[in-house]
Amino acid sequence: MTQQAPSNPVPAILLRTRELFILHQTLYVAAKLGVADRLEQGWRSAAELAQEFKVNEDALYRALRLLASQGIFEEDNARSFRNTEISNFLRTGVPGSMRSLFIYWGSDFAYPPFGQIMHSIETGEPSRTFLSGVDGFEHLRRNPELARVFDNAMTNMSQLSGPAIAAAYDFGAWGSLMDVGGGNGILLSHILRAHPGLRGVLADQDQVLDHAREHGYLNGDLRTRSTMEACNFFEHVPPGCRAYLMKNVIHDWDDEQSRTILGNCRKAIPNDGVLLLAEWDLFGENVPANGKFIDVAMLLLTGGRERSVDEYRELLASTGFRLNKAFPTAAQFAVIEAFPV
Ligand SMILES: C[S@@+](CC[C@H](N)C(=O)[O-])C[C@H]1O[C@@H](n2cnc3c(N)ncnc32)[C@H](O)[C@@H]1O
Repeated sequence: MTQQAPSNPVPAILLRTRELFILHQTLYVAAKLGVADRLEQGWRSAAELAQEFKVNEDALYRALRLLASQGIFEEDNARSFRNTEISNFLRTGVPGSMRSLFIYWGSDFAYPPFGQIMHSIETGEPSRTFLSGVDGFEHLRRNPELARVFDNAMTNMSQLSGPAIAAAYDFGAWGSLMDVGGGNGILLSHILRAHPGLRGVLADQDQVLDHAREHGYLNGDLRTRSTMEACNFFEHVPPGCRAYLMKNVIHDWDDEQSRTILGNCRKAIPNDGVLLLAEWDLFGENVPANGKFIDVAMLLLTGGRERSVDEYRELLASTGFRLNKAFPTAAQFAVIEAFPV
């Protein structure tokens, strides 16, 4: 066999995209099985790994060979594999771990709607709802295991973007901050650490706060500066802070639902307070942006959307806020600052 595969003809991007879809699902397998964790001590053969995972040896070998061909894992000539700099990020609990992210995107929640993408394109409705008969978050409430997978993926993402968001805005100036729909509390923990004078409240659904307590991101030195409050933001947002933050919350919902949430925030926020939205930056036309990918995912998964700053300005104006400024961050997020009017 030759050592170098011939390069693809133009248009290479189309062929590469087809490959990336296969690569993604193969990465899901490695993340789900926990291959990178098993390789922590060094080389392991596909046969040993297959035996441990109770999967088909030949199939696992072919999956790992593909990943090794892309620099994710390294293969020797005896069908053994070890971690690389890249696969280290598939290990559990390491800084910057993305294991939960791949488990989520390949899960029964996130992946099947992409097989029904035409439904969403034809109707504008989320294919997730078409498949389960209920909206995405209701589906998660009914499937606690999937809800945990979802929360863990959000934690991976906020672990990655948390420091950039914490550094991009003077949260400390407000004295108190409620992270509404704050998930496991990882973002709030980054913000509280970066702003030592700040007191924080994590608000989310009851069962999500149970996970947050298990994870303990707000324990230790943050215990005295943080509390948790259960809420259903369609009914009520708890009062008590001057600043209110929602990261990747409004993007989950259509305009009407968003207006209900924002209206409840308006009732909770004092007149001298602030509302902060951390959302994906869409950047300009023809510019690659994570937000443009997540926008299509929102169409399928929740019926939400990513919005431009002007679209946020309009949405906020209709719910009693004036968009003051959008702060860029070192991640692909913007922090949108809005004042009550
Ligand atoms: C996309 S996640 C974002 C989590 C977190 N802010 C982050 O960026 O990592 C949306 C969050 O909204 C919460 N959520 C969904 N419906 C809710 C409701 N009705 N009331 C309160 N929180 C809700 C979910 O539990 C979840 O934590």
